[in-house]
Amino acid sequence: MRIILLGPPGSGKGTQGNLIEKKYGLPKISTGDLLRSEVREGTPLGKEAEAKMNKGELVDDDIVVGMIKDRISKPEYQRGYIMDGFPRNIVQAQRLEEIDPDRREMAIEIHLSDQAVLGRLSARRTCPDCETIYHLKNKPPKKEEMCDACEKSLVLRDDDKPEVIEERMKVYREQTKILINYYSRKKAYFKIEGDGTIETVFNNISSLLDRELARSQEVGITK
Ligand code: AP5
Repeated sequence: MRIILLGPPGSGKGTQGNLIEKKYGLPKISTGDLLRSEVREGTPLGKEAEAKMNKGELVDDDIVVGMIKDRISKPEYQRGYIMDGFPRNIVQAQRLEEIDPDRREMAIEIHLSDQAVLGRLSARRTCPDCETIYHLKNKPPKKEEMCDACEKSLVLRDDDKPEVIEERMKVYREQTKILINYYSRKKAYFKIEGDGTIETVFNNISSLLDRELARSQEVGITK
C-alpha cells in the first residue's frame, strides 16, 4: 500500500503522517524533510533546492524524483509506505508509478480552508534536529520553544513567513490540487476534513485505513 497525503501547506500532512507511521508500521517519506536536511548539510543538492524553497516554489522534478527512487528501493519500503509532500504535480505522480508500479494507492486529501492554514503555519515550530512538529497553541512543547525529544531550540521554518506562505498556497492551487482529479479518476482518492483536533483527524484517517486495508486483504492485494 502506498498512502499519499495530499493537502495545502499546513493542513497536517506531516503530523498525521507521523501518527500513521507509528500505528501502522509503514515508513513515512517526507520530501520536505529530506530537502531541509540537504539544505542544513549544505550539500550541492541542498544549495540548489534552498533558493526555490525559500521562495515557496517547487524544487525541480528530477531532484525530488531521484530522492524518492533512492528511498523506495530500500528493503524496508517493500511492504508499503506513506508519502508526505510527494507527488506535487502530475509529472511526479506518473514517474512514481513508473518507479514502483502495480502498488495499491490511496491518496488522502486533508482538506483545510485558507484561513485555517494561516493560523496553523504562523504558530508552527519545528525541531531542526528530529523534525518533530509543534504548534504554540495546539501542540505546545513541554518546555517553552524547546523540543521534548532532543531539547534543541525550536525554529520557525524559513518558508513560514507570510509572503512565502502565500506563494506556497498559490503553487498548491495551480500545480498540486489537480492531483485530486488525477487520483479520483483512478478511484484512489479519499477526502478527510482537516479542521478538527489532531486526534479527531487521526481517528477519521484510521477508520478509513482500517476499512481499506481490510478490503485489500479480502481481495488478496499484498503490495
Ligand atoms: P513541505 O515540507 O512538504 O511543506 P508543505 O507541503 O507546504 O506542508 P507543511 O510541511 O508546511 O505542512 P503540513 O501539511 O505537513 O502540516 P503540519 O503537520 O506541519 O515542502 C516545503 C517545500 O519543499 C516546498 O514548498 C517545496 O519548495 C519543497 N518540496 C517539498 N516536496 C516537494 C516536491 N515533491 N516537489 C518539489 N518541491 C518540493 O501542521 C502544520 C501546523 O499545524 C503544525 O504546527 C501542527 O502542530 C499544527 N496542526 C496539525 N494538525 C492540526 C490539527 N488537526 N489541529 C490543530 N493544529 C494542527
